[in-house]
Amino acid sequence: MLAFVWAEDENKLIGKGDELPWRLPADVAFFKKVTMRGDMVTGRKTYETIPKRPLPGRRNIVLTTQKDYDAPGAVVVNSKEEILELEEKNGEDLYIIGGESLFRMFEDEVDELYRTVIHDTFEGDAYFPKDFDYEPFERVKSEKGPVDDKNIYEHTYELWRRK
Ligand SMILES: NC(=O)c1ccc[n+]([C@@H]2O[C@H](COP(=O)([O-])OP(=O)(O)OC[C@H]3O[C@@H](n4cnc5c(N)ncnc54)[C@H](OP(=O)(O)O)[C@@H]3O)[C@@H](O)[C@H]2O)c1
Repeated sequence: MLAFVWAEDENKLIGKGDELPWRLPADVAFFKKVTMRGDMVTGRKTYETIPKRPLPGRRNIVLTTQKDYDAPGAVVVNSKEEILELEEKNGEDLYIIGGESLFRMFEDEVDELYRTVIHDTFEGDAYFPKDFDYEPFERVKSEKGPVDDKNIYEHTYELWRRK
């Protein structure tokens, strides 16, 4: 099983430089809960935005063209095929956490979409693919996230499954 896990604002914005455009600890906790269920796959740029890497408790798989990329504690791969081979070999579900190039790469294979929608707009420079086709998917869950003094943005956790 292959899933995408990401958070986007109302314009599909997902990143600003090497950080998230918002602070939303509830979504970070949700992200952790989901990605702990299997292996986590990330593009090299997204991987380098993680302050304390690798993230503990799950295999961190990093995609890069660099043959000698040094990522202690993570598994470095150089192609999409290697990622799919690892899925088969390890028998774990794959949770792809971005960035944009990874979401584009696995658009035809992905089975589940964990999308957090933040009901606001922010400044930034990285987007979820704006032309992503949701037609092959159906939304099977939609749940409002908590809003409090630490989580000031209204947000919704959605799960989409391929029909
Ligand atoms: N809000 C969210 O949920 C969320 C989630 C993820 C990311 N983000 C944001 O997204 C931004 C980064 O995303 P991004 O799209 O710019 O970068 P990215 O997808 O994380 O990483 C791109 C890198 O992946 C490697 N790569 C891509 N395709 C490859 C291929 N076919 N073969 C081998 N290596 C390949 C390359 O690494 P090399 O250059 O090393 O070759 C490439 O430069 C950040 O701002 C981050 O905060 C947000």
